[in-house]
Amino acid sequence: MLNKKRTSRVLSHFLVTFPTAPHTEITEKGEIVYSEVNRENVRKLEAYVEEMASADQISGSVNIQKIQDDVVKLWNVVKSQPEISEEQKSRIKALYDGVVRSLRKAPDNRPLLHLKRRVGTQWEYSSNLTGVYFDVLNEIATSGTTFKDKNALITGVGKGSIGVEILKGLLSGGAHVVVTTSRYSRATVEYYQGIFQRFGSRGSALTVVPFNQGSKQDVEALVDYIYTTLGLDLDYIIPFAAVPENGRQIDGLDDKSELAHRIMLVNLLRLLGTVKTKKASRQIVTRPTQVVLPLSPNHGLFGNDGLYSESKISLETLFNRWSSESWGEYLCLVGAVIG
Ligand SMILES: NC(=O)c1ccc[n+]([C@@H]2O[C@H](COP(=O)([O-])OP(=O)(O)OC[C@H]3O[C@@H](n4cnc5c(N)ncnc54)[C@H](OP(=O)(O)O)[C@@H]3O)[C@@H](O)[C@H]2O)c1
Repeated sequence: MLNKKRTSRVLSHFLVTFPTAPHTEITEKGEIVYSEVNRENVRKLEAYVEEMASADQISGSVNIQKIQDDVVKLWNVVKSQPEISEEQKSRIKALYDGVVRSLRKAPDNRPLLHLKRRVGTQWEYSSNLTGVYFDVLNEIATSGTTFKDKNALITGVGKGSIGVEILKGLLSGGAHVVVTTSRYSRATVEYYQGIFQRFGSRGSALTVVPFNQGSKQDVEALVDYIYTTLGLDLDYIIPFAAVPENGRQIDGLDDKSELAHRIMLVNLLRLLGTVKTKKASRQIVTRPTQVVLPLSPNHGLFGNDGLYSESKISLETLFNRWSSESWGEYLCLVGAVIG
């Protein structure tokens, strides 16, 4: 549901929706069932912003001393077991030391959603930037916002994706959004038509383009279509196309992993490079395109996912290349660390 409010300068858009939260249930048969549920006591976007701004609190008070004592007891039980080998004991001891160390650490008050600033070669949590960010979110929640005259490209917008939720917000705010689909069909077009009918607002437009991000030719044709045929200059690029690579360790890297890496890294860079070339050839130097890079905290932590971590880590080199190469005046970068 969308409300529109006329102000003296621009039309502000409010997205009136119930914020939801992920919910997972394990059935008696052991199946994992995921659903989105309404957030308790959070009926408005403002309340959701407030909830996000408050640091993650563990419900109830935590007695750190008791946890430490229990861990010590657990360790004493473990080391008294004759069937545990010395090697296993030393591994458990190392884990035990780690748990005790982390319990002694000062509590971390950063909200789950926060911004980092680069300090030297490291990225560090910035309470200042995070505060500004939440102020802006609060302003949007209370006064609305607009994407009037803004043009966006989103790849990876299939059902259930993060991209499709971003699409709804951009259309609600009046943007012209170009989305791609690697499954072009009548059903797919009708799916996006349904989204436009529900979320489209004054001035908004939605263009659906068949596209395979694994193809260099498609990348070039897509950007040419946007800049030459549609005559748009992109304000935002959200290059979220991705394919899963689960089940592949280093001895099982196959052609699917290579294709995924090409989609999530090589051709993502090509996409940005092609946009830069179009902007340079049109001498568009005063309105850089904002790119939202889909990063992940998974830098090999989960394992078994082919070249996924390599694709994501490698995107982070762009933050250095932004200043060491010569395209910084055409593209602005922000990294969204998701998960
Ligand atoms: N979800 C998470 O927890 C998480 C965590 C960290 C990072 N990320 C990153 O955030 C981004 C979005 O994640 P998500 O969960 O929304 O992904 P998702 O639901 O898996 O969606 C990815 C989309 O990519 C599109 N796609 C697949 N093959 C393609 C191809 N050859 N060419 C063009 N598009 C193709 C598919 O849409 P169509 O087939 O309809 O085009 C699909 O809907 C990804 O880059 C992901 O790696 C996600």
